[in-house]
Amino acid sequence: MFLRLLSWVILALAMSRCYGCLEAERLALMQFKASINHPNGTSLPEWKDDNTTDCCDWHGVECGYAPGRVISLELYNTRQAELGDWCLNVSLFLPFESLTYLNLQSNQLVICTDDEGVENQLSELKNLSRLDLSFNNLDTRILSSVNGLTALTLLDLFNNSLKGSIDLKGMILIV
Ligand SMILES: *[C@@H]1O[C@H](CO)[C@@H](O)[C@H](O)[C@H]1NC(C)=O
Ligand SMILES: *[C@@H]1O[C@H](CO)[C@@H](O)[C@H](O)[C@H]1NC(C)=O
Ligand SMILES: *[C@@H]1O[C@H](CO)[C@@H](O)[C@H](O)[C@H]1NC(C)=O
Ligand SMILES: *[C@@H]1O[C@H](CO)[C@@H](O)[C@H](O)[C@H]1NC(C)=O
Ligand SMILES: *[C@@H]1O[C@H](CO)[C@@H](O)[C@H](O)[C@H]1NC(C)=O
Repeated sequence: MFLRLLSWVILALAMSRCYGCLEAERLALMQFKASINHPNGTSLPEWKDDNTTDCCDWHGVECGYAPGRVISLELYNTRQAELGDWCLNVSLFLPFESLTYLNLQSNQLVICTDDEGVENQLSELKNLSRLDLSFNNLDTRILSSVNGLTALTLLDLFNNSLKGSIDLKGMILIV
């Protein structure tokens, strides 16, 4: 009886391990790390490029209801000041399909390209409801990237470089 119980416990533990971080999202997190450290930064040292840790346990990362899916990325103040501007690359975030909260506050984030196609891709994050981009150097072009975010209820663009009229309906906009 005890052995049977023990084997159930072991089976349950083994199965729960299967619900660790998804490989695709772990790789995407490694790409994020490379980008925010470009060219020679040292942030996020505990994000290791091996399978010895569950990326759901990494600093700033939270997984949720969907097994192994990242739902929250809280990565404010991550880019080292001496590295200078960090060009927004929305492709970095697209693998996180279940993302509901993204905080990139204070990362020297700028838009380096006029490529409309790239900008628009952020709208694929259908469940993203809170986006904190405050204390960066984004300009009004960021609005076309976030306009298609259907679940967005809070967009924080405080202390960026936005000028001109801003027309976003149905959300709280902080600039
Ligand atoms: C990166 O390299 C530049 C020179 O190439 C140097 O000035 C800077 O301090 C380095 N930054 C880091 C975080 O190592
Ligand atoms: C990582 O996973 C691969 C296959 O998925 C395996 O061959 C390798 O031994 C694992 N490495 C570690 C450090 O667990
Ligand atoms: C943007 O990120 C994607 C995904 O990591 C990468 O393949 C691509 O090279 C990046 N683009 C730039 C301009 O860095
Ligand atoms: C988005 O959220 C809904 C419910 O809030 C959930 O059912 C759905 O699976 C989520 N989509 C993804 C891609 O995680
Ligand atoms: C906005 O950010 C700049 C640095 O980028 C800082 O000097 C300034 O104090 C900030 N303004 C506010 C109101 O926090």
